[in-house]
Amino acid sequence: MALHIEPADATLGATITGIDLARLDDADWRQIEDAFHQFGVLVFPSQHLTETAQVTFGRRFGAVEQLVAKRDIVPISNRDAEGEQLYDRSHQALVLRGNEGWHTDSSYMPVSAKASVLSCRIAPKRGGETEWADMRAAFDALDDAMRERVAPLAAFHSLYHSQAKLGHKVEAGAGYGFIADAPPLRPLVKTHPFTGRPALYMGRHAYGIVGLAAEESERLLTGLVEFACQPPRVWGHRWAPGDVVIWDNRCVMHRARPYDQREPRVMMHTRIAGDPATEAALATTEQAPPIGIGTAA
Ligand code: OGA
Ligand code: MN
Repeated sequence: MALHIEPADATLGATITGIDLARLDDADWRQIEDAFHQFGVLVFPSQHLTETAQVTFGRRFGAVEQLVAKRDIVPISNRDAEGEQLYDRSHQALVLRGNEGWHTDSSYMPVSAKASVLSCRIAPKRGGETEWADMRAAFDALDDAMRERVAPLAAFHSLYHSQAKLGHKVEAGAGYGFIADAPPLRPLVKTHPFTGRPALYMGRHAYGIVGLAAEESERLLTGLVEFACQPPRVWGHRWAPGDVVIWDNRCVMHRARPYDQREPRVMMHTRIAGDPATEAALATTEQAPPIGIGTAA
């Protein structure tokens, strides 16, 4: 089997075939790592990895972030443990709804994520795609004035904030990533630690740009996401069971697309930890604004 890389018709993304991720030799791994740095998102159709094999593949990229209940791999599913459809106001359902907004994983944690691996177990008949947007190309596409404006700016990132905007109010420590105090502050322009390319870094968890009034911050962040997540910088994947995807959270945003909640959608997620040398939050004495600013409800 020869490894084949098919670039997507977008500024990011490629589909890789002719490979079994459960049996990866070093030569294949080098090609995959190069492609990861070049394309930012890699789709591997029809891999059908076991949980262990998915975590092992993830570890090629680095240490795995411990998620809910300190697990290396967690379901992203609209069914509860008994397989029943989730009540749409439940914590888990509201977190899934949140995933439908453009974001980058673990930006609300003290160390943001390097990459995420997502695989499909059960796909809905229609909808439920995942989309990715290229924040390197988005930065490059800004005009000079905007590039200069965003370069020195930094925003706080909070899952409490982004979920509050959806009307999801949670208690302290309600789930993974709900950190009550001192949300991390992150630059709006992130330099990729491997490629050195600058990328916009923001998404639904970002709020409260230091030095701007709340409304102005919200307007700038909303405008940047809207501008950034447009063709040719967006690529989507329609899932089939067995597909595996990895994306680079340091330069790519993603979101889930809606689907009929009466149908099951079951995905498995593994997250690769960022390097504290490059993905730690900025040191700051600035106070984060209260969460919920700019909320519709
Ligand atoms: C994630 C995520 C989107 C999707 O796994 O981090 O945002 O399409 N998933 O399920
Ligand atoms: Mn996500």
